[in-house]
Amino acid sequence: MTTSKISFSSIKDNIIKTLARTEKTPLVDAMLAYKNKPMTGFHIPGHNRGMGVYPKFAELVGNDVLNIDTTDEFDNLGTLHPVSGAIKEAQECAASAYGARTTYFVTGGSTVANLALAFALTNPFEEVLIGRNCHRSVLTGLIISGAKVNWVIPRKLKNWAIFGNIEADDIEEKLQKNRNIKLVWITNPTYEGIVSDVKKISEVCKKYKASLIVDEAHGCLWNFNNKLPETAINQGADAVVHSLHKTGGAMTQASMLHITKNSSFEEEKVEHALKLLHTTSPSLLLLASLDAARANLSSSLGQKMLEGAIENAIYFREEARTIENLSVLENIDHDVTKIFIKMKGLSGLQLEEILEKDYDIEVESASDEGILLLSNIGGKREEFEYLIKSLKEISQKKYDFEYKNVKIMPLLDPEIVMNLREAYFSPKEYIDKFDAIGRISSQVVALCPPGISILLPGEIIKKEHLPYLFNYDKIEVIKE
Ligand SMILES: Cc1ncc(COP(=O)(O)O)c(C=O)c1O
Repeated sequence: MTTSKISFSSIKDNIIKTLARTEKTPLVDAMLAYKNKPMTGFHIPGHNRGMGVYPKFAELVGNDVLNIDTTDEFDNLGTLHPVSGAIKEAQECAASAYGARTTYFVTGGSTVANLALAFALTNPFEEVLIGRNCHRSVLTGLIISGAKVNWVIPRKLKNWAIFGNIEADDIEEKLQKNRNIKLVWITNPTYEGIVSDVKKISEVCKKYKASLIVDEAHGCLWNFNNKLPETAINQGADAVVHSLHKTGGAMTQASMLHITKNSSFEEEKVEHALKLLHTTSPSLLLLASLDAARANLSSSLGQKMLEGAIENAIYFREEARTIENLSVLENIDHDVTKIFIKMKGLSGLQLEEILEKDYDIEVESASDEGILLLSNIGGKREEFEYLIKSLKEISQKKYDFEYKNVKIMPLLDPEIVMNLREAYFSPKEYIDKFDAIGRISSQVVALCPPGISILLPGEIIKKEHLPYLFNYDKIEVIKE
């Protein structure tokens, strides 16, 4: 694989220093005030601050959670659409901390952020260039909008069956050939933490007058530590998506969408799309968790936690090198906190099973190839020591598992014969998957996590796809 080494520059230090970081938590404070002020309520949510829930559920989640489970209709909390009050202040604090022009809180995860960007910024039959390793939400958005997808395929790694980086040269080649493409959308980092040279990519985009969206769902910590890669917010992207709930310490489903300082995108369009796609009852609990996560990462405590996560990852990587039969994905531009490993003689799924059953260790994900481990904020060194000890033991044992052939992700250049939206809405039929070779898919087949597509509407089904259709007896194809 040809990747140029990216330096996560010392310039980053200066950028971080100029960001207006505050530990202010306007929304958390408003929620605390709400919690401490008993009111007689005649409104939604009808469980009345927990009084109306099944007691066992109250026992499970605790009264405090139920007490503050409210939505955005009360004056002291503000509203999400249009943004006002404490929610607005919290969004502004987030924009300052990330160095964005505008930051939006999203309660449907980065899925809704991606849908909104596609909905707001692409039109039917407009040509867009998308990294093939994009999350399926990007494609759902493009099915809604009807834009015409061109693919840029990430590099293939030599010894690892996972997607690598996207090269700026590959993007340039596509933009040169098709001057109608005015939007490029990439995922960075990859799920396994591999980093593309976004600065170079954004320069290419500017050269061809194309806007750039970066789905940085897995990179929300980057702007808070100079040992981590540079965020696309500072590298010329127009919009950036962050799943704060993934690694930033927010609650599940809480994400942010940033419009950058020099973005060519109009906020009104994005706001309009977010409003249409969002629930009309956003959970204040999720919104407050975004406020808290940003404040935490800005605080000295959060900084220490993040530094700890990086040190733990470095410790693990050093120790792991000494374990026989274990390989760690390295020597590549990556986010050090995402650790992808494989053990000789075991598939990733088998290794996951052993770790879970014999050692009570849960990993982020497993594939035939290997497992992904995350070094998270709040993680303890003892946990990594235990992980190392367990892996050492496993590497010395003989297991009765039948070693399966590793299924390599089908990094095929897709053969597209129909527009995504047209194929999705065409008359279709379900047929046996073995009869589907040569037919046009009308289905999105994506392995989750991380939700990367194997097959999409409008693409020819090939025999190479069959190993990945293990969950399917029948598959949906365009009616002939
Ligand atoms: C790159 C990427 N983008 C977007 C998403 C969707 O994020 P969410 O789960 O926050 O909706 C994911 C989820 O795994 C992802 O990996």
